[in-house]
Amino acid sequence: MEKTALKTLLAEMTIDEKIGQLMQVNTNIFVATKAEITGPLSKMGIEEERLKYIGSTLNFHGAAEMIQVQKEHLEKDPHKIPMLFMMDVIHGFRTIYPIPLGLGCSFDPELVKECSRMAAKEAAAGGVQVTFTPMVDYVRDARWGRVMETCGEDPYLNGVMGAAQVKAFQGDDLADKESLATCVKHFAAYGGAEAGKDYNTVELSERLLRECYLPAYKACIDAGTTMLMPSFNSLNGVPSTINPWLMQQVLRKEWGFSGVVITDYNAVGELIKHGITDNLKDAARMAFENGNDIEMVSTSYAQHLKELIQEGAFNEAQLDESVLRILELKNALGLFEDPYHGASVEKEQQVCLTPEHRAIARKAAEQSAVLLKNEGVLPFDEKVKKITLIGPFADEKAIKGFWACCGKDQDCVTVKEGIAALLPHAEIRVEKGCGNLWDDTDTSGIPAAVEAAKDAEIVVLCLGEPQNYSGEGNSRADLTLPGVQTELAKAVLAANQNAAVLLFNGRPLVLSELEKSAPAILDLWFPGTEGGNAAANLLFGKANPCGKVTMSFPKAVGQCPIYYNHPMTGRPKGNAEEVHHAYASNYIGCGNLPLYPFGHGLSYTTFAYESMTLDKTEMTAEDTITVSITVANTGSCTGKETVQLYLRDLYASAVPPIQKLIAFEKIELAPGEKKTVTFKVCEPMLRFWNGACEFISEPGDFNLFVGYADHPAITERFTLK
Ligand code: BGC
Repeated sequence: MEKTALKTLLAEMTIDEKIGQLMQVNTNIFVATKAEITGPLSKMGIEEERLKYIGSTLNFHGAAEMIQVQKEHLEKDPHKIPMLFMMDVIHGFRTIYPIPLGLGCSFDPELVKECSRMAAKEAAAGGVQVTFTPMVDYVRDARWGRVMETCGEDPYLNGVMGAAQVKAFQGDDLADKESLATCVKHFAAYGGAEAGKDYNTVELSERLLRECYLPAYKACIDAGTTMLMPSFNSLNGVPSTINPWLMQQVLRKEWGFSGVVITDYNAVGELIKHGITDNLKDAARMAFENGNDIEMVSTSYAQHLKELIQEGAFNEAQLDESVLRILELKNALGLFEDPYHGASVEKEQQVCLTPEHRAIARKAAEQSAVLLKNEGVLPFDEKVKKITLIGPFADEKAIKGFWACCGKDQDCVTVKEGIAALLPHAEIRVEKGCGNLWDDTDTSGIPAAVEAAKDAEIVVLCLGEPQNYSGEGNSRADLTLPGVQTELAKAVLAANQNAAVLLFNGRPLVLSELEKSAPAILDLWFPGTEGGNAAANLLFGKANPCGKVTMSFPKAVGQCPIYYNHPMTGRPKGNAEEVHHAYASNYIGCGNLPLYPFGHGLSYTTFAYESMTLDKTEMTAEDTITVSITVANTGSCTGKETVQLYLRDLYASAVPPIQKLIAFEKIELAPGEKKTVTFKVCEPMLRFWNGACEFISEPGDFNLFVGYADHPAITERFTLK
């Protein structure tokens, strides 16, 4: 439809129809019988009449439901304006790939794109037009359950991965039947929740916000995301949804975001619980005033926006602006021509969970796995005949992880199934040993597990936290393996050291005890549908682990928040020359460093950083320095290495971080092969937010190092003139 036609349409709409476009309700409202909906609707404070004007819906179940609901809607809507169907397609629609925290560890934006395209194809066939993704909340505290949805503690990596998702989901043209519109979330700093408790208050300086928390949202906007969602939390005393600094100043004025803003679930209604107002009318006024176009689930707009306009709080032109943005999005998706955006039951069946999609999910699970420790036991020999699998995840299908959309546990391949398929000749014994809930205290299964371990050539301990211990609302105060799993592991590892631990987790866990006795630890995160096949390939060397930690693993929960890009301090612990010297003071008996830092991850081969050369050691703001790093595979199998380039500003007017990632590239090397990776360092990479909140660089000396956090392989210095 032409833009002028959209304006004509807008001019023909009544004020009630316009307000309807700003409403989003759960799909069950439309599929319930008349008797069933009267209750919920009157509770929501809206009349049934309004249903026909509603502009969008969320939480439906695939193409059949979407088609039915859209069809019935179009029959009733006076101007036949299609509804938008939105869903949280976070790490797959039906074929589930690893949770974002895992996928981030791949350090592979191309892989992220491949996964996102697959998810978009399945979801579009299943009736989704907008996905509430990417979630790019910056995080430093593993207690927060939603760290599983992010890429961790690096602002740059978060932005790169978020932008990759936006580009891949949206494709070149939103009208393409395999594209979805994206909605970046949760703006802003939801991941800064105090003490890692979900929905908790966030107090952060503007400088820190701009330095670490805001860049990834901006990267997604620059990548073209069509929508954005403010966060539930209050930020420096004001809920994000109605925070004028955030929503008006930064988002619309500074960044010029012109897309559609949708509140989070019931966030406007929750302004009352936040203690901001005692009534929904005020809430509606504040939400609309701060640029929220669509209200998700609560109905303050439906109940009060018309009245507010009639009273002069807003004029209709302001309403028109929001409605036009929504109509433009519908138009960009081609909904006026095809309100189903290509969805059909047959197509959904054809494209979901195909062997090709399973192969992508398997590859993603393999590349997301992080080999945290290996004393040479892995990979196991495939000729092995007697294998014992121990632990609650040995034959467990609930390994998709939280926010798995339409994915089903029954589609998942367990570790046992994966190994049985790879090694049909092997005898596989499974002993669960114990449960994985925090209050599972039953140790009665441990002796049988120990006996089974003694009897086996190799042992695989499959441990972790249940998939609903992370994700929304699922924070933890204890980050060790829940229940008696550590006890189980100790007993089993004392009986047989030809063993490896496979971890299933939605966050970095505290593994200090396990690390003492386990010869190898391979973290699969929640790997998704193909988890068991990926595990088998990794354990037996058909795939070589290449993931790198993107969120520090604390030694003890008391170290949280812990992150690699810590500001320097005046009384550092340790030698000032050490990269990690600035971790302030010291924890008695635990130290300051994490167990596994950002960027750490082993391989079945070894890599040597042979040289790092700078084409010059002095630059001006107009210059670039070319950094060339030569890496060799010094081991005996092909492997992938993520070459990570870190920067330290030695002296600056605002305390600089000890180190920060400024570039990375993942390369593959055959045994004996060498490659030279080049990075360009330019002045914008040296900028930081100073005390006056200006984004500047300052002349002076900088260190560049290659390696991983706190572990420089080679360091070089240069000067900005
Ligand atoms: C979450 C959002 C999500 C929304 C819709 C909320 O509870 O915070 O991330 O997109 O629900 O499902």
